[in-house]
Amino acid sequence: MKALVYRRYGGPEELELADVPLPQPGEREVLVRVHATSVNGADRVLLRGEPFLVRLGMGFLRPRHATLGFDVAGRVEAVGSLVTQFRVGDDVFGASRFGAFAELVCVAEQTLVPKPCVVSFEDAAATPTAGYTALQGLRKGGIDAGQQVLIDGASGGVGTFAVQIAKAYGADVTAVCSTRNVEIVRALGASRVIDYRREDFTRDGPRYDLVLAANAYRPLSAYRRVLKPHGCYVMTGGGGVEILQAMLLGAVVSMTSSRRMGNLMAVARKSDLVVLSELLETGKIKPVIDRTVALSDVPAAIRYLEEEHARGKIVVEVEPPLATS
Ligand SMILES: NC(=O)c1ccc[n+]([C@@H]2O[C@H](COP(=O)([O-])OP(=O)(O)OC[C@H]3O[C@@H](n4cnc5c(N)ncnc54)[C@H](OP(=O)(O)O)[C@@H]3O)[C@@H](O)[C@H]2O)c1
Repeated sequence: MKALVYRRYGGPEELELADVPLPQPGEREVLVRVHATSVNGADRVLLRGEPFLVRLGMGFLRPRHATLGFDVAGRVEAVGSLVTQFRVGDDVFGASRFGAFAELVCVAEQTLVPKPCVVSFEDAAATPTAGYTALQGLRKGGIDAGQQVLIDGASGGVGTFAVQIAKAYGADVTAVCSTRNVEIVRALGASRVIDYRREDFTRDGPRYDLVLAANAYRPLSAYRRVLKPHGCYVMTGGGGVEILQAMLLGAVVSMTSSRRMGNLMAVARKSDLVVLSELLETGKIKPVIDRTVALSDVPAAIRYLEEEHARGKIVVEVEPPLATS
């Protein structure tokens, strides 16, 4: 089968489309023919092997997993001997541990759910990683109806889901993004949209019950200023300094004041994928898709993600589905 592989850490030019052996599903794994996948920040980080710390888990000198790609939407091709929830021909979506930038990928039964028939493969593929990160971040922050919630980085992959999920919880959402994305984010349900190029929301503005930084661009002290007493700050992404601040200083703030501050390491869970599937099926969330590209165009898509900011997600169409299962 065809897969996008890389043999050493580096830029998108390291990725090449190659013929590789068919993956064999383990006892509790499902072999999925990939109709669509999507690009995440993690693909970029693991491609480059930066920050260097990621190499501790992913291979010190060269990548241990040759094929990136985590989100998958497709059709079941084969199942492992202990799989009980899926059959050959089922349409599914979920999160793989690597390998989704390929025609076929093995996915654990526990990180896969049925794809609702009203949801396209593209929308399903856009959702898993960014969607469960947004969901888990909001939950970690104690999201509840009626709260004042601020989403920083609202126009990216995680942020566009976070705005919609917070709204689905009944929160009043303020979103932060750049000028060109203000209208898109407003259409997702944000009551107020702050253009970070024109206004600094951490100065003299209202305070919030929950601040989710999809990408943190400010010091922790600035985010602390906009929290109400008992407010909560959760960071899902940012640079090394912001991550360290959230982990270390955030723990100090949480121990010494009524506010809670910290970061999130999101984990793929079936229960969260079920929630996302219901939200997709009922139309409460609709992925924002910047563009759809072919598997061979993933290197260019990663470059685009790095050099410009994608609006929402970049979806990769791998192999269009046949008419019906
Ligand atoms: N914790 C986890 O387990 C986990 C899981 C998945 C992803 N992540 C991480 O989460 C982060 C967000 O991912 P993503 O896919 O949503 O990223 P993204 O698509 O790059 O989104 C970036 C967002 O930040 C905004 N932004 C860019 N420059 C800014 C600036 N100078 N000031 C303020 N805002 C700015 C962008 O707005 P404009 O485009 O409008 O400028 C956009 O809304 C990444 O770091 C990713 O690695 C973490």
